[in-house]
Amino acid sequence: MNLPVPTDMSGYAEKLIRGRHATRAFRPDAVPEDTMRAIFSLAGAAPSNSNAQPWQVEVVSGAARERLANALQAAHAARRISADYPYSEDMYAQVHQARRAAFGARLYGALGIGPDDHEARVAYDAQSLRFYGAPHAAFLFVTGDGGPRLAADVGAYMQTLLLAMAAYGVASCPQGLLSFYADTVRAELTTTGRLLLGISFGYSDEAAPANRITTERAPLEEITTFHD
Ligand SMILES: Cc1cc2nc3c(=O)[nH]c(=O)nc-3n(C[C@H](O)[C@H](O)[C@H](O)COP(=O)(O)O)c2cc1C
Repeated sequence: MNLPVPTDMSGYAEKLIRGRHATRAFRPDAVPEDTMRAIFSLAGAAPSNSNAQPWQVEVVSGAARERLANALQAAHAARRISADYPYSEDMYAQVHQARRAAFGARLYGALGIGPDDHEARVAYDAQSLRFYGAPHAAFLFVTGDGGPRLAADVGAYMQTLLLAMAAYGVASCPQGLLSFYADTVRAELTTTGRLLLGISFGYSDEAAPANRITTERAPLEEITTFHD
């Protein structure tokens, strides 16, 4: 087998894509406005079907972030769930469940939360609604009819945004959990789109145990088939 032929970009791509990780503890320092604008401008270069760009993005910082964090805590306590995109454990295949379990064991293990400590896991999730301490959160809405094809486009935007952040040294955590409270989020913001997810972002607290975990990926052969 021949070795891959690198271009002047491949080294950067390897570093950027493999260097991005979900961050679950942040320093309080804000991302400067110019950096923020550069990141979101770059993310807008994401591809979408016929270039429709069916995304709307709202970013909260400062007092707006605090208001939303409080509203999310209240909604969680009152069990006011409102997910635009229904969620069910049944959507996962067995192989997905095995990967999820392996990830959960790593994360909760690093936090010192035992496999059967349901209460501690629930408390950790509730706390994550405060954006893991990040000074900013971005909310990604799907516009148009919000259907699955448009949501897939917003998924492409999400990854482009996460990589743009990583390129500027900004750490992030995509959080599907935030989308369980779509009405609460919308009430604090201006869009009428369907909420796909929120992304907490800022600068990583490198010392935090939650930020030391590594995640595995399925081997190439398991997920990719090449046909001649
Ligand atoms: C759509 C989506 C939703 C996610 N939701 C959450 C979440 O609610 N809470 C959380 O801590 N991490 C969440 N994550 C982060 C994943 O757990 C993480 O991406 C995965 O375990 C792989 O780890 P890595 O991102 O560090 O490579 C989410 C990621 C994606 C892409």
